[in-house]
Amino acid sequence: MKDLIRTRRNIKKFKPNEIREDALLSWLEAAVMAPNHRMTEPWEVFFLGRETREKLNHKTNFGNAPVVMAVISKNGVNKLETEENALATACFIQNFNLAAWAEGVGTFWSSIGASERNREILGVPEGYHVIGVLGVGYPEIIPDPKPRRPIAEKIKRLP
Ligand SMILES: Cc1cc2nc3c(=O)[nH]c(=O)nc-3n(C[C@H](O)[C@H](O)[C@H](O)COP(=O)(O)O)c2cc1C
Repeated sequence: MKDLIRTRRNIKKFKPNEIREDALLSWLEAAVMAPNHRMTEPWEVFFLGRETREKLNHKTNFGNAPVVMAVISKNGVNKLETEENALATACFIQNFNLAAWAEGVGTFWSSIGASERNREILGVPEGYHVIGVLGVGYPEIIPDPKPRRPIAEKIKRLP
């Protein structure tokens, strides 16, 4: 598990090889086990077709990933629940990313869905946040790890 976490990268360039639908669904099925407060299960997934991808006009077309999906999060009944739902959806995405990575498939997490223009292109309903638009595919290039600061610098022990 630790190796899986350590070796995952944000992939910027993909091979054209298709991703099997059953594999894709199995990673999404794993992703739904993400922690989520009050079982709001706030995530929804839109698979993007060619037309939508062209309209989004992403600078690298998501590294030419064979699959692109937007993951959106339903807002809650108040600010705290909305925030917790977004956090749960980020956990959902990380679960998906790791489940895919375990089978050699990489993901490109992009924030392109945050702008008003792109929300419209994606058809995001009122009351939802776009947490990520993900390219999914077999990596053409696996980047070197980006070093992280030692966790010791981030730990505080309270009395
Ligand atoms: C919420 C979120 C939004 C991100 N948006 C982008 C993005 O718009 N473009 C991009 O290139 N990477 C994006 N990333 C990926 C990060 O840039 C990447 O995770 C970081 O550089 C560390 O690289 P690594 O994931 O390969 O370790 C995003 C990651 C997160 C968690």
